[in-house]
Amino acid sequence: MPENDPAAPTSQWVRACALDEVEEDEGHRLDTVPPVSLFRSGGEVFCLDDTCTHEDFSLAEGWVEDCVVECALHTAKFDLRSGKALSAPASTPVRVHEVRLEGTEIYVRLPETYDTSGVGK
Ligand code: FES
Repeated sequence: MPENDPAAPTSQWVRACALDEVEEDEGHRLDTVPPVSLFRSGGEVFCLDDTCTHEDFSLAEGWVEDCVVECALHTAKFDLRSGKALSAPASTPVRVHEVRLEGTEIYVRLPETYDTSGVGK
């Protein structure tokens, strides 16, 4: 896709935090609007919208195991790789964002419509 294509999705790479700020099998919520969270599982780092698609609850508060996060409110599960809802009561996927590691720093690629002024400070 050409860089100046007006139909091209616009996004921004943002420094999220240091790798060691995200513990294995834990969520780490970033101060963006809408909020996104980092998850580290199976040696990989993932970035997803933080709000459960069932109701308004933070997925960073959930339980993480084998690249799946389970919402702490009603136990819907989401695949950290695809954002797919794996179990009821959620059926709508959570939006997933690209992650890049630069040394020990985590960068995430977020839509330009996301307010990222609160991260990477
Ligand atoms: S709010 Fe997440 S499962 Fe209900």
